[in-house]
This record gives sequence, C-alpha cells and structure tokens, in this order.
Amino acid sequence: MRLAETREDIHSITRRWRREGLLTALVPTMGNLHEGHLALVAAARHEADRVITSIYVNPTQFGQGEDFDSYPRTLDPDRVLLEQAGCDLLFVPGQSTMYPFGIENGIRLLASPDLSGRLEGRSRPGHFDGVVTVVARLFNLACPDVAVFGEKDFQQLLVIRRMVEDLGYPIRVVSVPTVREPSGLAMSSRNNYLEPADRTAAGDLNAVMLAAAKSVESGSKDLMGVEKDTASRLEGLGFRVDYVAVRRAADLAPPGPADRHLRILAAVYWRDTRLIDNISAIQVGIPGI
Ligand code: PAF
Repeated sequence: MRLAETREDIHSITRRWRREGLLTALVPTMGNLHEGHLALVAAARHEADRVITSIYVNPTQFGQGEDFDSYPRTLDPDRVLLEQAGCDLLFVPGQSTMYPFGIENGIRLLASPDLSGRLEGRSRPGHFDGVVTVVARLFNLACPDVAVFGEKDFQQLLVIRRMVEDLGYPIRVVSVPTVREPSGLAMSSRNNYLEPADRTAAGDLNAVMLAAAKSVESGSKDLMGVEKDTASRLEGLGFRVDYVAVRRAADLAPPGPADRHLRILAAVYWRDTRLIDNISAIQVGIPGI
C-alpha cells in the first residue's frame, strides 16, 4: 500500500492510474477504523481497479464543544487494517494540504438546506457544511471515479449524493449497509467511548428501532405515534433521546400518504456518548388504504 500526504503525492499517483485506464474508488474516513470501514474498502475493491482510503479528522464538521480534540487518532493500527483489506493508497493529508489558506480563510461550501437543515443538521448546526466542504476537497484531490460511503450516516449519504449531482462531479456514489456489533449496535468510532457493558446495553437502540420498523411495515399510518412510542421505549431503557423520526427515505422529508420507502432515524445519548442509527421501513401497498 502506498502512502500520500501531499497534493503532489496524490496527484502524481492518481494521474498515472488514470493514464493506465484504471478506475479508482475513494473511501473517505476519519480513521479509527473498524469493520464498518473495512466493508467500505471491500465494496470499493469490488467497484474499481484501485482503492484510495483517506484518513483526515476534519475540523470544519465539528461544532463548538464537540469531540474534535478527543476524536480517536489511531494511524498505525489503521494502516495495518487497510493493508490487510487490500487498499492501494492511503491518503493522510495534513491540515495545510486540506486547507492551505487555513480554516478561516478557506472556501466553504453550504450543504443543500432542504436536506441538511433537519435531524442531524438541526442538532449539529453547520455539520453538513463541513462535511461537503471536506468531501469536495477530497474529490478534487483524488479525482475518483467512485466514492463509497456507509448507510450508517444516512443523512450524510444523501447530502453527498446531492452535492455530487448539484455540482456535477463525474463520480458514482456507492452506499454500503451498516455493519453492526453482535448486540446490534451500529459500528462507529465513537463506540470506543463506551465501556464493554455499555456497548451491549446500547444495542437496545437497534432492537427498539427494529420494532418500530415492524410496526411501520405492517401498515401503521400513525407515524407520529410510532415516533413517540419509540422515543418513550428508548427513554425507558435509559437513553436520552435527541430525535426519533420516520421519514421519506429519498429526502428525509415527513412522509406523505403515498410514500412507501421510509427510513427510521434516531439520535440518542447513552451516558455522554451520542449514537445515531437508521433503518429502512418499506410499507407495501395495503389494499383499500
Ligand atoms: O463519515 C465520515 O467519517 C466523515 O464525515 C467523512 C465523510 C470522512 C468526511 O470527513
């Protein structure tokens, strides 16, 4: 596996691959890799001839008081995992590579307000602006044919798909289903903030969301009732609920009567750790409804 740290490094390697007619896939990450990330690398290998994984903890997507400083940085073990996973190029840019004019003076993008203003965007103002700003920069540096993102961050996935379409990037976005711990807890670097017993307890989030999906899929029309019941079940289990929402999967708007492809999304706190998760709920047509 090759290592690139500067713009010149990544440009020279990817330019050569393009000249050779090789397709490249980019897996953007913030490191502290786990099986969820490795599933993204595996998907990237399937989609392209060469896989680039980037590791960069992006300051512009963290809000005031969030965990930018304490975010786990584990480059050495990450490198070993990527090597074993068959990644071809690890891109580890420093801040001056990503933001050469500094964070304050660098150009920032605004994520599409209709997609980014709700749910996570409402709880974490400016978060998706930081995400599109850094992902656009990574796209410009790596020039991939394919970019791979996890469904774990479902709203991020939609925001990035929209950016690609809106700005006309010639990049195919591929999404990969969430990888879960045995307890059902969605894999996330932030799970490292939890003690082992808490990781098991936090798996109840998934169990409660699966019950909500079952209720939606069996035809419940009272989606606000499902949201309220789900939130109160979670509170009863010791979670502090930020939001539970049943939304239209395509754009996370509140669903209309004809919408069938829904997504249940939740953000909760287990002790001080913020967890997010989402699952699909498809309402098949019910005669007479
Ligand atoms: O999902 C993440 O890890 C980050 O939001 C991303 C896409 C790497 C941008 O910093």
